[in-house]
Amino acid sequence: MSEEDRYVFVAEWYDPNAALQRRYQLLFYPKDGSVEMFDLKNHRVFLRRTKYDALQKEDLFVGNKINVFSRQLHLVDYGDQYTARKVGSKKEKTLAMIKPDAIQKMGSIIQAILDTEFCITKAKMVLLSRTEAKDFYSEHQSKSFFNDLVSFMSSGPIVAMEVIGDEAVSSWRKLLGPTNCSVARSESPESIRARFGTDGTKNAAHGSDSIASAARELEFFFPSSGGRGPKNTATFTQCTCCIIKPHAVLEGLTGKIINYILDAGFDISAMQMFTMEKANAEEFYEVYKGVVAEYPEMLVELYSGPCIALEIQGTDTPKSFREFCGPADPEIARHLRPNTLRAQFGKTKVKNAVHCTDLPEDAVLEVQYFFKILDN
Ligand code: RTP
Ligand code: MG
Repeated sequence: MSEEDRYVFVAEWYDPNAALQRRYQLLFYPKDGSVEMFDLKNHRVFLRRTKYDALQKEDLFVGNKINVFSRQLHLVDYGDQYTARKVGSKKEKTLAMIKPDAIQKMGSIIQAILDTEFCITKAKMVLLSRTEAKDFYSEHQSKSFFNDLVSFMSSGPIVAMEVIGDEAVSSWRKLLGPTNCSVARSESPESIRARFGTDGTKNAAHGSDSIASAARELEFFFPSSGGRGPKNTATFTQCTCCIIKPHAVLEGLTGKIINYILDAGFDISAMQMFTMEKANAEEFYEVYKGVVAEYPEMLVELYSGPCIALEIQGTDTPKSFREFCGPADPEIARHLRPNTLRAQFGKTKVKNAVHCTDLPEDAVLEVQYFFKILDN
């Protein structure tokens, strides 16, 4: 008789009340999607084996942050050789980048990434200078197309993403399709370049071509220490702030929500993924404290996992965007304003898909909180 299939991890959780980093052994049973946790210091059961639907096998790998009953856990190690072999050996990171010609299609490209069981663990919209573009593509400096490539890549905003998944380097390139979009359209019509690209240079998206280039290219956009990487594109003028909440990011709705916003005629002038600490969430939601009944739950939701911050521009923002988001309670929204964003994507008053700036005078401050303060 074989033992029940289970994966074992070492997980860390920062306990803000005790100001302590706690360590757990976390077990996941794929058969029924249940999870069990042991406190490693006190050798005690921390969470009895419980079914937890929000946790997917794809989210379980070292380096990822997961959410278990509103605690944000960082998976720091595999707990046994079986898990390391079964889960760890095929996981790779790669750089996926949406190029300037496809920026209006970023919602659909992000959705294609998420529908392929990749995890997006970092994301940032940037505008490369010519120098940065030359540096990024330095391997191509002797090629005839180098000048055109540099001009194109610095001609408008791009979105750089760290993507993790099984054999991510090759599987993302497969999803991208052939470099030349007309070739892509005849040989691989479902591919990203076939669907969203223009020609041989303007080809919608990029993917690292090896594990070594992935490491170099990720370091370029998301430096691990010291450096800052290319800066975000926030303008802090005539804008409003929208946060795609962690529950919606976790549910894989990011691409659909972005599409919904763009289709309504708003511009996304900056975008970045953040994982908030409790203290940041408190600071950001300060005005709601003691005013909104759901404040404690709203707070926990905001720091329960990665969120996506957007700077939105459009006619008559912030007011028009707030109306487009709809009533804070998605149930009410579905009755009164069924086409609003929250009616479409929200679940409850706390898990209502997005935060948007309430008071016009706060819009720039909220955008600054993310794109100036948190992106330090
Ligand atoms: P990428 O690096 O962007 O993922 O694309 P790739 O590996 O498929 O293509 P690569 O040979 O590395 O070329 C880098 C980018 O340069 C532009 N290019 N233009 N006009 C041309 O002949 C030409 N050839 C390449 C494309 O934007 C290509 O993605
Ligand atoms: Mg290449």
